[in-house]
Amino acid sequence: MDDPGSRSLSLAAFADQVAGCTKCPLAEGRTQVVFGSGNADADLMFVGEAPGFHEDKQGVPFVGAAGKLLEQLLAGIGLTRDEVYIANCLKCRPPGNRDPMPDEIEACESHLWRQIELIQPRVVATLGNFATKLLSAKPTGITRVHGQEQETTLGGRRVLLYPIYHPAAALYTPRMLDVLQSDFRRIPELLGRELEPPAQMLAEVAAEPAVQLGLF
Ligand code: URA
Repeated sequence: MDDPGSRSLSLAAFADQVAGCTKCPLAEGRTQVVFGSGNADADLMFVGEAPGFHEDKQGVPFVGAAGKLLEQLLAGIGLTRDEVYIANCLKCRPPGNRDPMPDEIEACESHLWRQIELIQPRVVATLGNFATKLLSAKPTGITRVHGQEQETTLGGRRVLLYPIYHPAAALYTPRMLDVLQSDFRRIPELLGRELEPPAQMLAEVAAEPAVQLGLF
């Protein structure tokens, strides 16, 4: 268990480093890096796609229309955005809000892995296709996997990866809202799940008695 406030300090120090990132050409067109926001000790982390116009101006993820809907969905399960952590796959706005490109995701992903390592969330909810494919390391799209949690190792820890539709999808297709609400309703139960320790830790524990028995 870390000292109180230590995650928040480490995360702030890391945000300062990332603020000057020039790993990809998006650095040239941005107003600022949109690192992430919320509670550094959160058990629940959301990962979206990339900052849009408003996020780029304000330096905070999900402050536009999709963000308002995300806040409403959170309120529906008794949470506020200050109790969770919100980040994106890309930290800089793609021009004209176009889709992220593979080389941009590749250049930026180490920032997200480090955020996950520092925050140590129990549940990582991926919003939409880009975050879901990146964090699951699988090509299966959100339509097939939404609402289906999968246990995986991220940032050296076991987490529940929980793919859900991007809230922007419900802005354009209102019946999506029902699906999103019903997928959100499962989050409190997922936060209470016990997770297996990482495979490496299990292997170490399993190896211990054998070492003591002089088998190696
Ligand atoms: N959409 C995203 O994926 N991220 C944001 O920060 C805003 C809109």
